[in-house]
Amino acid sequence: MYDAENLKDCRALAVKRAAVACWLLFSLSTNAAGIDVDKSLSRIAFGSCAIQSLDLSVFKTIQSARPDIYLSLGDAIYGDYDVATGKRFEATSATLARDWQILGTNKHWQSLQKNIPILAIWDNHDYGHYELGADFELGSRSKALFLKFFNEPLDSIVWSRPGIYRSMVIGPESRRVQIVMLDTRSFKSTPVLAEGWLAEAGAEAAGSLGKFVQDRRGTLLGKAQWRWLEDRFDETADLRIIASSTQVIPNEKGMDEWGNYPVERDSLLQLIRTKGGGRTILVSGNVHFGELSAKVFDEGTAIWELTSSGLTHTNEAYAEESNRFRTAGPVIERHFGMLDLRWLESGSVELDLQILNVEGLHMLHEQVILP
Ligand SMILES: [Fe+2]
Repeated sequence: MYDAENLKDCRALAVKRAAVACWLLFSLSTNAAGIDVDKSLSRIAFGSCAIQSLDLSVFKTIQSARPDIYLSLGDAIYGDYDVATGKRFEATSATLARDWQILGTNKHWQSLQKNIPILAIWDNHDYGHYELGADFELGSRSKALFLKFFNEPLDSIVWSRPGIYRSMVIGPESRRVQIVMLDTRSFKSTPVLAEGWLAEAGAEAAGSLGKFVQDRRGTLLGKAQWRWLEDRFDETADLRIIASSTQVIPNEKGMDEWGNYPVERDSLLQLIRTKGGGRTILVSGNVHFGELSAKVFDEGTAIWELTSSGLTHTNEAYAEESNRFRTAGPVIERHFGMLDLRWLESGSVELDLQILNVEGLHMLHEQVILP
């Protein structure tokens, strides 16, 4: 994929070796996902949590909204969960391949994938294990299946380094949108279970919460991804969108969230606060409902996080968990998320933060202006 990092490589190569092929790719300004990197973005759709054997018509609704790009924020399949029995199982290469194929042969998904550029990151169920991160022994095989499913070109930098994180800058000068897709599975320390918790007792199915306790020494992103992420803030951008499979700002659920790694959560929020220029927003998934959250610092800097989770299913009990940062929602109907961008003459950017249901109706709609 010819994202910002690859383009940089491309330029360096062109200087060093007059690499004609590389220059041609750069000139075309289109990456392998079909994204015109010179195009001014006006609509970004995103979503998470789709059980591949359920009704996937939400993808038809997403396509009908004609977004410039769709961000798949994890659980694109449930590779360790059997919807018929309601039980988790140990995924294998074969079961993961089978489940990707079920999604890949769905007509609504096929049409979306054919017509709308897609960037994807994974969460636990499409990674293949409910709670393991770096310790998941199927991790590299799962990565190969994942990247193949999303048509990642073989020369992409994402193949050649551990994990699936990536970034891209799209848009002309003064309208550059940087999209940063974080990998919250490949490097994650095994989460610390709450005392007395029976790890494999089907707790999720029972709607239980408070499963994990905070781990101040563990990592979510790992060292290399952290270095890479800090460098991303040195790239010029007029708006940054940080995509995480799990929630960053809401930290009270004890579910799979950045709050379980409070040191790294603070680091990310401080990075956005100090280097985001007031023009950084978060999008996330995982929790099986939708909501809008905001973290406001003493000096007035606000960071918004729009969470959309529940393309095929939602969970009312999860939505009842407290979130003192919530400013709108929760949305319990099946839905997807959408950002509309308007670049104002003043130089500000106006954002419509939205959650829409399967019929395409607004379930949440808030407007913010980032000066
Ligand atoms: Fe999910």
